[in-house]
Amino acid sequence: MTFQTITAVVLALSAISCASKSNSRHFGKTPSGETVDLYTLTNGRGMEATISTYGGVVVSLIVPDRTGTAGDVVLGFDNFEGYLKSPPYFGAIIGRYGNRIAHGKFTLDGVEYTLAKNNGENSLHGGNRGFDKRLWTVKSSSGQSLVLAYLSKDGEEGYPGNLATTVTYTLTDNNELRIDYAATTDKDTVLNLTNHSYFNLAGQGEGDVLGHQVTIHADRFTPVDKTLIPTGELRNVEGTPFDFRQPHAIGERINSGDEQLTLGGGYDHNFVLNRAGAGLELAATVSEPKTGRVLEVFTTEPGVQFYTGNFLDGTLTGKGGKVYGRRSAFCLETQHFPDSPNKPDFPSVVLKPGGHYQTTTVYRFSTDSGR
Ligand code: BGC
Repeated sequence: MTFQTITAVVLALSAISCASKSNSRHFGKTPSGETVDLYTLTNGRGMEATISTYGGVVVSLIVPDRTGTAGDVVLGFDNFEGYLKSPPYFGAIIGRYGNRIAHGKFTLDGVEYTLAKNNGENSLHGGNRGFDKRLWTVKSSSGQSLVLAYLSKDGEEGYPGNLATTVTYTLTDNNELRIDYAATTDKDTVLNLTNHSYFNLAGQGEGDVLGHQVTIHADRFTPVDKTLIPTGELRNVEGTPFDFRQPHAIGERINSGDEQLTLGGGYDHNFVLNRAGAGLELAATVSEPKTGRVLEVFTTEPGVQFYTGNFLDGTLTGKGGKVYGRRSAFCLETQHFPDSPNKPDFPSVVLKPGGHYQTTTVYRFSTDSGR
């Protein structure tokens, strides 16, 4: 063999090994022995998203700060076992119904459906075993995208209809994590999918988020009762601590004694987004002064649940041994409004056979230095 031939063979072999270099790795096994994998999406612009086939959990999200230094901006666990111990939905797909349904009941087409009451009197985030606790099938994956699918059977967690769901994660060249949700059903049903990432733009485990500056494009929010079910009112934010139409620090008014903030233990409310149409529109912007990281959330949804990690209490130890204290993260869960199946005046969450559920949310990252 000539030197040229050997060189050509070596080059060909290394090309094959690069092409087949997988972006997935083993994460763990479910209690019933199924394999759980992690998929890492990278975009060559310093951003990296790692997603688990269990719950579609965004396990880590690496984002550069204003100096270009990478940091993980979502709460989570190093080991799969952490996700089995009923954590507070860190990073997961929430379904079939994001947020609460009052008394675990709703009526559709004259039939009353009963759901698990897993949050006091109410049903929260899809019941005892929602989409966050299901193993999803990988339909396709590439370096920058991952398509997960899950078939939820008729009657699962009390919901009607066989529901075929796909969730597509795309890491764009513009430092965006885009999530497209799609679903079809064979029976009338209700549906409200979201992602439950807990963000801390200073880096996960780096203290509380009270200094983060938040803007939410909402003139109204949905006040709640003491079980966090919306009363049905769409209340004007004017003159309240819920007015984020101009940027405010999360901590500025959170302990003001406002009745709604007392009920939520902080912010844990659905904001009614000001929308011009049905497309992808900017819902909220959050910036963190120390690192300069900025998150913009775009969505096709009518609402967003702004939750300030009020129920985190320092009992969970997450990635890198970090302890997650109260208000050490915030969530912006794009959604239809909580308890919509029981609120005829709220935008409808009914999906019918032949209909296509299709929503998109984009988390765009940048920094205040314009990087
Ligand atoms: C809810 C909170 C809940 C949290 C974690 C949020 O969407 O609004 O009340 O504690 O999820 O479950």
